[in-house]
Amino acid sequence: MPRKLHIKTFGCQMNEYDSARMADALAASHGFEATDNPAEADVLLLNTCSIREKAQEKVFSQLGLWRELKTARPDLIIGVGGCVASQEGAAIIRRAPYVNLVFGPQTLHRLPQMLDSVLATRRPAVDVSFPEIEKFDRLPDPRVDGARAFVSIMEGCSKYCSFCVVPYTRGEEFSRPFDDVIAEVVHLAEHGVREVILLGQNVNAYRGAMHTGEFADLALLIRYLAEIDGIGRLRFTTSHPQVFNERLIAAYAEVPKLANHLHLPVQSGSDRILALMKRGHTALEYKSKIRRLREVRPDISVTTDIIVGFPGETETDFAATMNLMEDMNFDTSFSFLYSARPGTPAAEFVDDTPREIKEARLSRLQSRNTEMAAAISRRMVGTTQRILVEGPARKSPRQMCGRTENNRVVNFDVQGSTNAGRSRPPASRDTCTSLYIAGAGCESVAECADKSLIGRFADVEVTEALTNSLRGRLLVETQARRA
Ligand code: SAH
Ligand code: F3S
Repeated sequence: MPRKLHIKTFGCQMNEYDSARMADALAASHGFEATDNPAEADVLLLNTCSIREKAQEKVFSQLGLWRELKTARPDLIIGVGGCVASQEGAAIIRRAPYVNLVFGPQTLHRLPQMLDSVLATRRPAVDVSFPEIEKFDRLPDPRVDGARAFVSIMEGCSKYCSFCVVPYTRGEEFSRPFDDVIAEVVHLAEHGVREVILLGQNVNAYRGAMHTGEFADLALLIRYLAEIDGIGRLRFTTSHPQVFNERLIAAYAEVPKLANHLHLPVQSGSDRILALMKRGHTALEYKSKIRRLREVRPDISVTTDIIVGFPGETETDFAATMNLMEDMNFDTSFSFLYSARPGTPAAEFVDDTPREIKEARLSRLQSRNTEMAAAISRRMVGTTQRILVEGPARKSPRQMCGRTENNRVVNFDVQGSTNAGRSRPPASRDTCTSLYIAGAGCESVAECADKSLIGRFADVEVTEALTNSLRGRLLVETQARRA
């Protein structure tokens, strides 16, 4: 019987990506099979996040639940990884002595050896060092699952925004070699991936060593990736406004495979707050970059991250943020209440705005952003959108779903459309059990009998805008663009 592994993930896409790599590493080294049920697992891993509030409490309350499982089954191995592990190190084991493994975002590739050592000695293993690029070299090729894949191209961040813990938990920026990224994407494309999302805390700081001895930036990497057969769409996240440059704008102008969407965190619309945040740009500089981008991509969807209630934020500062949001017509963005992170400079700033005021500001901002995004969705009704079909729709087995360039899920009927009824009957309950596994967005298609539309680009007419998705009608199926 293969041994079972359960991973619980808190936090960002980088953490989701890291969790998938942990599963790959332990599957390759020890034959571990993933399970959603902690009660049947032999190894439990918690991949933690410390970007915002209550990170530590959340970790220890989760560990408290797992402790009960371990009391019943003393052989159970419990590991903690991610950013809280990176900050706390061995202190985690001092507070929760039943934890066997502590590893950081840069040492997850050492998990197989750490696990062997725990199994052999029954003593805890802790490694939260930053051995840089070693992580990428030591991980097995990712398993391919579906038409979209995340590819980590750089790690860490050297921007040191005054509020942010990332440079301390994930270390300074370092980029994966250019040829390695190309090879990984070729591998993914050969296994059916059509859309690649390049990941990093600050992807436009990418500086990948090439075999020629030169370095490639993100714009050059995008141009090369767009040439790979089968890859039809590219995205990247997250980038920093200061290094969002003309070369990237030119890539948007000249590389149609670069999705019509940019996530560019602004954090605030007030220059005073931006300076206190050490963001290194003004609101006007941000605006002019987006204006330049819209000259080459007039209808591009721009999303952002905003922090509300930074220490000393006044009503005037907040009004500047609301104005910027209107001016930029941001699509579905992320906004957060400021949370003091131990060890960051902003944690020392005087913060005298009452929490109720901050919360009221956040809810004003969020409800306005929801309206703006809904208006964008409504304007899409009646238009034709090119989507990448990812699989059966979550709610209805008669529908398929895919994602638009601006990252909206579209559900559409397969039956009764112009050409789809011919060779592709809708997946039925009998043939396609995996349709019913719960998950976000589109469903898993591992066992699906009708795979013919999946992984293909198709044109749909949007017929209805709902709160979290669109409805559409399949027009024609198009092949992945090749050039
Ligand atoms: N690399 C990204 C940020 C990664 S963290 C960038 O370029 O900005 C993701 C988001 O979390 C940030 O954009 C910020 O909006 C939010 N965030 C980070 N630290 C925070 C804090 N201390 N309090 C509240 N929100 C925070
Ligand atoms: Fe954090 Fe700023 Fe880097 S928000 S991840 S320090 S760009």
